[in-house]
Amino acid sequence: MLEKMGDFFDARLEGYEDHQLTAIASAGEFYPFTAQCLPREPGAEVLDLGCGTGLELDPYFPRNPTARVTGIDLAEGMLSALAKKFPDKALRLIRGSYFDVPFEQGRYDAAVSVESLHHFTRDEKIPLYRKVYEALKEGGWFILTDYFAASDEEEALCREELHRLMAEERAETGALYHYDTPLTVAHESEALHAAGFDRVEVLGRWGPTCTLRADKMPRR
Ligand SMILES: C[S@@+](CC[C@H](N)C(=O)[O-])C[C@H]1O[C@@H](n2cnc3c(N)ncnc32)[C@H](O)[C@@H]1O
Repeated sequence: MLEKMGDFFDARLEGYEDHQLTAIASAGEFYPFTAQCLPREPGAEVLDLGCGTGLELDPYFPRNPTARVTGIDLAEGMLSALAKKFPDKALRLIRGSYFDVPFEQGRYDAAVSVESLHHFTRDEKIPLYRKVYEALKEGGWFILTDYFAASDEEEALCREELHRLMAEERAETGALYHYDTPLTVAHESEALHAAGFDRVEVLGRWGPTCTLRADKMPRR
């Protein structure tokens, strides 16, 4: 049965972090790796898309205690849990969809997203990535850690299955449902380039999970 995205995560809040850290192979490696890719400068401005309870921030704040993080998430319970974990940090939390929430242009040194964007198509992601690109300062970068389809066939099959379930369950058109539809790394990179990023590289790989870095180069 399909569940709406925010409701899905709020319903699983209890035990979410244990589940995430034990059920996903290499989570113990890719969260610290992701944190290590974020800026170290005091007061760095970071935008976190789909921050949830902030598992990527657990290893980041000890490395950069004065970082200023804007976290966006659909799930109210996840955001409350995150706020409770870091009462003394410069956290600005916004409940909403990162597709809809406006981002302040040129504000951020870096953006990050972990295990959140594997629900959306290439066409949905291009305008979102354009917003991320515009929200970054020149020389800023976007770190995307997520899991990816191994082939075009797997990518297409997941999407077909989502469409089948949505038709079967008469799901609301335009609503966001929790169903995994990962892109291949090649299609994800295409979306980032199409949004304007100048360089996209794979920094880490743990089975189907990868960390991508997309750069907004300084203009001359
Ligand atoms: C698996 S959790 C990952 C949370 C955190 N980044 C982590 O790795 O622990 C995915 C999060 O993405 C959020 N999410 C999914 N789609 C979203 C959207 N369109 N806008 C904002 N948040 C979204 C969900 O509510 C959920 O909290």
